[in-house]
Amino acid sequence: MSIPVVTVGESASECVTGLEQLRGPVTVVRRCEEFTEMIAACQTGIARAAIIAFDAGELTASLLDRLRAADVAVVALADDNDAQERLRALNIRQAGTNVEPAVLAEQVSLAVADLELHRDTGSSSSFAETADSLVPRTPAPAADPESDGDGRVIAIWGPTGAPGRTTLAVNLAAELTATGSRVLLIDADTYGASVAAALGLLDESAAVAQACRFADQGSLDSAMLMRVCSEVLIEGNALNVLTGITRPDRWAEVRPSALSRIIAVARSSADAVVVDCGFGLEADEELSFDTLAPRRNGATLRCLELADEVYAVGAADSIGVPRLVRGLNELAEAVPTAVPRVIFNKVRAASVGRSPERQLREAWERFGPASAISAFLPADFDAADAALLAGSTLCEAAPASPLRQSIASLVDAPVEQRRRGSTGAPNNEMKFSGNGVRLSQ
Ligand SMILES: Nc1ncnc2c1ncn2[C@@H]1O[C@H](COP(=O)(O)OP(=O)(O)OP(=O)(O)O)[C@@H](O)[C@H]1O
Ligand SMILES: [Mg+2]
Repeated sequence: MSIPVVTVGESASECVTGLEQLRGPVTVVRRCEEFTEMIAACQTGIARAAIIAFDAGELTASLLDRLRAADVAVVALADDNDAQERLRALNIRQAGTNVEPAVLAEQVSLAVADLELHRDTGSSSSFAETADSLVPRTPAPAADPESDGDGRVIAIWGPTGAPGRTTLAVNLAAELTATGSRVLLIDADTYGASVAAALGLLDESAAVAQACRFADQGSLDSAMLMRVCSEVLIEGNALNVLTGITRPDRWAEVRPSALSRIIAVARSSADAVVVDCGFGLEADEELSFDTLAPRRNGATLRCLELADEVYAVGAADSIGVPRLVRGLNELAEAVPTAVPRVIFNKVRAASVGRSPERQLREAWERFGPASAISAFLPADFDAADAALLAGSTLCEAAPASPLRQSIASLVDAPVEQRRRGSTGAPNNEMKFSGNGVRLSQ
């Protein structure tokens, strides 16, 4: 079957006669003058592919997402090196403007095949994928060497209610940095970004939004990513920080497709990439009529999908625990590939009752989801406050504190092993109240 194609831009339009003379593989259904006209045509469903002259308008990752969401594959025509470089970074199939019609038709059918392959292998249950960001996670045609990094991505997530996601993200990143690893900390929270404040960075630049813009334009590479990062010294080692949005209403700037690219580049620039995620997982914006509207939770969902490890943090009290139970169920539905490490934070007898860890374990075994509890982090208000006050990490502001030590031991030792051998366990001296934790809702 002939592939219906739209074109935009002069050099694309000049290819039309040659393509029509082939009488077969592709049929040009519309020649568009402008990008907006081309997008509108694609959204009506008349085309399966678009041939775009590179200089016809601004080709960005978000635009590609919109076309992919409309099930339209893209081939771009470009001659100069810079343009070709950008197209490679955006993973777009390309050809020169003087390309033979048969070769161009072949590129079009390969681009359509790429898109179908992506649709078949992509996670259809992924809420992040639903509309604004169908980014290839299968190797794209012109694979970018920077996507091949093997840095591990650790997403820190937890339900609403400030369970301690940022505290864990910042301090886990700091502990990894202190061990000599190259670490990049990304604030991807689209509701309440606070990594910059936690680290005392006077950052007004919303580095994550800047990086997203570069990623969108196909110009983000390792050097560029490092340039927009702030550097924080942890025991003499540099922790690179991609600060978050400065106001919650800027959430739409943290686009999932751009985040995919940032994470790919980050993997090749760092040994560990720690991401502070937002809490929301629900995709009820899907009820919106505008299926191409950006989705606020898309950034969190995308990070969770791409992460090698997911830490799910919950507050250890009678509000936090049921929220974590519900949140983990939502997580299993939204990102079935995620295998979370469950972390209880702010563990204290005053909010749970006698022997808080034992009570939490017992309650979890009876009512909790399948994932076992991986670790308990003590309520340690002195240390947490000292770090916030100093705009610093626990390893700098409260190195001997129980909270710091618990987070440090998450980094390299399996939690169960570490707990048995640990000294000075923070909860030993808790006074028990006798009230059991309630998991039922
Ligand atoms: N183990 C702890 N003991 C005492 N206080 C803690 C502990 N963990 C976090 N906190 C404090 O709880 C508050 C919320 O922590 P944090 O900002 O890390 O939560 P969050 O989940 O990132 O919240 P948000 O929804 O705002 O992103 C902060 O004041 C922090 O210092
Ligand atoms: Mg936070």
